[in-house]
Amino acid sequence: MKNNIILLLFLTISLNTFAQKFDGLAETPPMGWNSWNTFATDINEQLVKDIADKFVELGLKDAGYEYIVLDDGWMTRERDENGDLVPDPEKFPNGMKAVADYVHSKGLKFGLYGDAGTKTCAGYPGNRGYEYQDAKKYAEWGVDFLKYDWCSTGKQNAEASYTTMRDALYKAGRPVVLSICEWGDNEPWKWAQDIGHLWRVTGDIINCWDCEVGHGTWSSWGIWPIINMRSNIRKAAGPGQWNDYDMMEVGNGFTDAENRSHFAMWSMLTSPLVMGNDLRTASKETVKTLANKEVIAVNQDKLGIPALRFTNEGDFEIWVKPLADDEWAMVIVNMADAPRTIDFDWNKHQIGDDLHNRQLDIKNKKYKIRDLYNHNDIGDTSKNLKATIDSHDVLMVRLRK
Ligand code: GLA
Repeated sequence: MKNNIILLLFLTISLNTFAQKFDGLAETPPMGWNSWNTFATDINEQLVKDIADKFVELGLKDAGYEYIVLDDGWMTRERDENGDLVPDPEKFPNGMKAVADYVHSKGLKFGLYGDAGTKTCAGYPGNRGYEYQDAKKYAEWGVDFLKYDWCSTGKQNAEASYTTMRDALYKAGRPVVLSICEWGDNEPWKWAQDIGHLWRVTGDIINCWDCEVGHGTWSSWGIWPIINMRSNIRKAAGPGQWNDYDMMEVGNGFTDAENRSHFAMWSMLTSPLVMGNDLRTASKETVKTLANKEVIAVNQDKLGIPALRFTNEGDFEIWVKPLADDEWAMVIVNMADAPRTIDFDWNKHQIGDDLHNRQLDIKNKKYKIRDLYNHNDIGDTSKNLKATIDSHDVLMVRLRK
């Protein structure tokens, strides 16, 4: 009896003292959907149900998408008399557990949005000072993923603030993926590995190929500025810890070619693949891109090594990514405004990743080349890779043994 009490005491103390992030939840980049890019705060129960249905109907669940995440705007402007967060009763008349239950009934997982400061970016209550209380509520509702933002944080220390929420989630006991969203301001790739499972590396994405849109104190960024914004962050990513290049804009006004390039790049960078479009009205071609299992397999490769730029000279962006079993993925994006032809002589280039000590061994091996968007084999590395690529389109290949 005495021993049991001591054991119980020990367990209680260690749970509090040795809080940690939940392990094993994001061994490959998380895949899902988030409401913000298309709906902002205009969200509700029916939308979540429709999206969950579409995950199944469109084959997205089958392709690996798992999380449905409600971003900012799901709660009322004030906490209730107990200090609890309250789902907006007009948007979520049956409460949040009912929403989570529906998502779970489809074999999917459910996520919510919070903020480390006193208010969210859209002005709803932040979690500051209520972390343990809110984490308990999330667990009661069945939340599996928390996107945790950084508005109204004043002089708060980012590492400490995100650690507090990590510990609160751990104490609440329900495994939750913690998605850190402080826009790269405090260089989370240097400290967040033991705190969260993914961290945003830039400010907000916007649906343009190569632009910056200013909003006074902050900017939104197109696809290429986001890709180019950070250097030296490759080494931070790997199983359980991912550089997050933001929710995708695939299907949000791009050409089909641009959608393919955007999706290829997010896959190559081992970014979480979080769709941000309206799945109820998505075109066949958009769904085909998002559900492309051969491209997704590159993103979900078990080594979790992010791509590196091989060259961006001339009209082409060429990126390479080491994969398991000594295979490689390669992406060639035509940045020009008209079609361009590539003629790539494998013997003239040394493709390698010094950081992970991997080289494409062209001299001793002949790799078969698989086109991941056309789903066909297009020769091997004994001959030049020749292709005409449309403006802003991509050739994405897998080099196989
Ligand atoms: C910030 C985040 C966005 C989104 C909004 C919601 O801007 O970076 O991704 O969550 O807040 O208000």
